[in-house]
Amino acid sequence: MLRLPIRDGLGPARLEAVIDHPDFPLSDPVLVHDRGGSRVVRARLGERQVAVKSGTAWGTNRWVALAPVREAQVLRALGRWAVDGTTDAGTWHVQDWHEGRRLDEALTPDSPYEVVRESAFRAAAALAALHEAGWVHGDLQPDHVILTPPGQPDVLIDLALAQPLRGLRRPPVDFPHPGQSVLYEPPEIAAAVLAGRRPVPSTSSDVWSLAASCVMAFTGRTVIDMPWPREDDIARVEQRSAIAAGVRRRFRVPGQIGAVLEAALSPVPSHRPAAAEMAAWLGSSARGGELCS
Ligand SMILES: Nc1ncnc2c1ncn2[C@@H]1O[C@H](COP(=O)(O)OP(=O)(O)O)[C@@H](O)[C@H]1O
Ligand SMILES: [Mg+2]
Repeated sequence: MLRLPIRDGLGPARLEAVIDHPDFPLSDPVLVHDRGGSRVVRARLGERQVAVKSGTAWGTNRWVALAPVREAQVLRALGRWAVDGTTDAGTWHVQDWHEGRRLDEALTPDSPYEVVRESAFRAAAALAALHEAGWVHGDLQPDHVILTPPGQPDVLIDLALAQPLRGLRRPPVDFPHPGQSVLYEPPEIAAAVLAGRRPVPSTSSDVWSLAASCVMAFTGRTVIDMPWPREDDIARVEQRSAIAAGVRRRFRVPGQIGAVLEAALSPVPSHRPAAAEMAAWLGSSARGGELCS
């Protein structure tokens, strides 16, 4: 029997049953991610490279158990391939594995201007495409942006918290948005979580998170001055308080990029550009060339 390197608490028998199903002859499994109740295994399914994602409740975060099946439903609504099922302790899905470099791999504090501009441009264009398709990402961060090799569309992953726009149907398996990764969480989401209100991610909250992701990737620092790295519950309240208070760090990025990111990080959601506008600005600054430094 093919065994995935999945440990305790996941319902391994169920997962192995899935792996053994004749329709899913998965092979060459490699555990790539195991955090907060969520695991990702890269594997081969015939000619296809796939990601097998499974989730189980994590402390009070019971939604993590439902996240894989919800994400599969979002992927299918977007026309992407995904199959899903349950484990003893949660849910799983299989989706295509996307080759490429995550934004945090593509961008470093040493990246030349043109690499920063092109990476930010491609990330903004991928976000604009998601918004155009009628979905808000809801948890954008550098490792959710995959810049793919030439000829393939760049892709945003981890759509477990994505929200439909324009009256599109919500996924059948659903749960209230729990807030984002705090490092990239915009002020309006942080304020809602702190106040015990249900956060409502929007296209403009995604834009803030995209800009915060770019700043983190090429400065190595959070855009908000917050106690970090710390992951305990007290730290999260302090981090969200700093975000909601708007305690911004200064960062220096040359040319058009700095201006675009400053606009995207406005505390007022309606003052932020749309992702498509960000992409247009970042794309046009390549053609002009005069802003490069
Ligand atoms: N379809 C995929 N293609 C390529 N890498 C993936 C894919 N799914 C997950 N990963 C990798 O696994 C990591 C964790 O996946 P993610 O979906 O963000 O899990 P979580 O919900 O636990 O945050 C990603 O940052 C990425 O490196
Ligand atoms: Mg993730």
